Amino acid sequence: MLRYTKTAIALHWLIAVLIIGTFTLGLVMTDIPGLTPAKLRYFSWHKWAGVTVLLLAVLRLLWRLVNRAPPYPAAMPAWQKSAAHALHGVLYVLIFAVPLSGYFYTLAAGVPVVYFGLFELPVLIQPDPALKAVLKEVHYWLNMLMAGLVGMHVAAALKHLVVDRDGVMQRMLPSFKKENS
Ligand code: HEM
Repeated sequence: MLRYTKTAIALHWLIAVLIIGTFTLGLVMTDIPGLTPAKLRYFSWHKWAGVTVLLLAVLRLLWRLVNRAPPYPAAMPAWQKSAAHALHGVLYVLIFAVPLSGYFYTLAAGVPVVYFGLFELPVLIQPDPALKAVLKEVHYWLNMLMAGLVGMHVAAALKHLVVDRDGVMQRMLPSFKKENS
């Protein structure tokens, strides 16, 4: 069975781990009452991790545009192939939309984003309290949508592994054999 390239597999799992960590940190940090030094530190870590997801998403999309995904097994029903393509398409959009909504929310709040405390990222919009309130909701609900769709994505992958046993899940797992680049 044809597999994803090593680069695609590395980017997939790196982005997955970072998204789970950034999502969890987002929920934890916003739950801390008041304004403590720890809370401010977590906000910074959250923003740096989120910007890293955005940068990796750019690399991943570019890699995907020049490298085709391996075809699904012939026996897989057409509706499942279409559903998988649609779900993957929406997840690609969300790995951009979720960090971008957080980035613009932060700028609308009048706070510059200083990546790892070293590089100030472009201030693309001016502070705007009304836009800030909208983007806060947008960032939250895009995250909830992504969490639901990632749940479906994981459930589908596990069905391929345990029920269908058709090798579809293994195509995205690291392999230590020399077979792709
Ligand atoms: C993969 C990327 C990201 C994920 C999964 C994510 C996830 C989350 C989650 C789950 C929350 C909690 C929402 C709530 O309970 O109200 C949150 C809040 C927040 N996020 Fe993100 N985020 C990401 C990227 C970013 C980026 C790139 C920035 C800014 C550069 C950012 C800035 C913020 C801020 C400032 C809050 C606090 C909202 C508030 O004031 O209550 N996020 N994020």
